[in-house]
Amino acid sequence: RSIRPLVAGNWKMNGLKADLAVATEVAKGYAPELKGKVDLAICPPASLLFMASAALIGSRIATGGQDCSAQGSGAFTGEVSAAMLTDAGATYAIVGHSERRTLHGETNAIVKAKAEAAQKELLVPIVCVGETREEREAGKALAIVRRQIRGSVPDGASAATLVVAYEPVWAIGTGLTPTAQDVAEMHAAIRAELGKLLGKAAAAGVRLLYGGSVKPSNAAELMNVANVDGALVGGASLKAEEFLAIAKACV
Ligand code: G3H
Repeated sequence: RSIRPLVAGNWKMNGLKADLAVATEVAKGYAPELKGKVDLAICPPASLLFMASAALIGSRIATGGQDCSAQGSGAFTGEVSAAMLTDAGATYAIVGHSERRTLHGETNAIVKAKAEAAQKELLVPIVCVGETREEREAGKALAIVRRQIRGSVPDGASAATLVVAYEPVWAIGTGLTPTAQDVAEMHAAIRAELGKLLGKAAAAGVRLLYGGSVKPSNAAELMNVANVDGALVGGASLKAEEFLAIAKACV
């Protein structure tokens, strides 16, 4: 691999403080064979972010927010700003997850503004893209994802300031996954689109994660696809053992 992979766990709206034990178990299990070969991050709910970051100090396991406001501060009840995420110890911020796009009406423009807000506070946005089942069946998956990339990725981003996650909506939490060939085709298309936006050299180093029903049983196959530089893991990230098994599949 020319790019060190990243495996990020998105806990979604799961986890109470007792579940911080999962984060510390992950840190304990970050065995010598993983060190320096795969980066790990845990994105707990906002309520646990500060405590998770504190629990992981010295462990080399990073943390991230699951969303990030496009606004800096002020009268935005319920929102969490990029500066707050940084202050809580985060390294990453997931933006434009399909659950945000669908359930909260986030457009490409909003996602881009959130990614820019994250970058301003030196967070690395994990910009999520992906087509729905209908779009795939209509043969529009590549066009939809290219458009999401063009609309959601901040100008001037580079390998150090951007991660992209391809998550087909129909694969999230369903146990379904695209074929290795479909993933390869999509990731190549994303890399090419990033090349047009950011320049080939910058695009070549951006980590492209695959997300959607990644499990220990399918991780090796998915993580060995060309242009797949790690995973964005939902359900399986709630169990330290499974999350670590996925990380091991990357090395
Ligand atoms: O952000 C994570 C994804 O939505 C994947 O979730 O692994 O539960 O399918 P999942």
